[in-house]
Amino acid sequence: MSGPADPQSAGAAYWEPLWQEGRRYRTIDAAEADALRRRLGPGRDRPALDIGCGEGALTAQLHRLGYRTTGIDCAPTAVASARGNHPDLDFRVHDFGIDDPALLPHPAFTAITCRLVFRWVTDRDTFLSRVRDLLTPGGTFWVVTSVHDPAQGPPKPWDLSAEEADRLTTAWSGVHPTELTPSFHCYALRP
Ligand SMILES: C[S@@+](CC[C@H](N)C(=O)[O-])C[C@H]1O[C@@H](n2cnc3c(N)ncnc32)[C@H](O)[C@@H]1O
Repeated sequence: MSGPADPQSAGAAYWEPLWQEGRRYRTIDAAEADALRRRLGPGRDRPALDIGCGEGALTAQLHRLGYRTTGIDCAPTAVASARGNHPDLDFRVHDFGIDDPALLPHPAFTAITCRLVFRWVTDRDTFLSRVRDLLTPGGTFWVVTSVHDPAQGPPKPWDLSAEEADRLTTAWSGVHPTELTPSFHCYALRP
């Protein structure tokens, strides 16, 4: 697969064919769901945005925590599948790197999540600046990603490097990492 600087890993032109051919991704296990619950806390009907929601599993977890959730994905097949899995939740086709944030259902979100997405974002500065603009004061940006573990040999295509993970976590006032395994991490980031 392409590296982060390769524009081919961006947008529906890259992701839609993968969904259509039946590609699926790592499921959320109990430890990850528990880390999410501990770091985000109860939703109390506050808005949450799941960027790159895929089939909607994380969006549904946020809903269970009490958040008013919207899942967005640039790939129409992923959104159709998410709607089928969770007909009561709000899913939209929306490319977070390109589309107008004013089209989102709220001007700001208490929680913004992004699971197995950030590695593939080509313009990370723009992506992170959009996240910051949409987070409420005291809100949380939740990122789940593979990070290269040198003990497991060369990096996998889906790994962030340790340096990329460091860059992701700089310039946030609160950084709370959870190492689910040596190569699978969650970060709760607060502006
Ligand atoms: C590896 S999949 C992960 C899906 C889901 N988050 C999960 O954990 O199963 C990455 C998803 O992010 C979506 N995606 C990538 N870039 C995006 C963007 N700029 N805006 C919206 N969705 C995006 C892709 O279409 C794909 O569904």
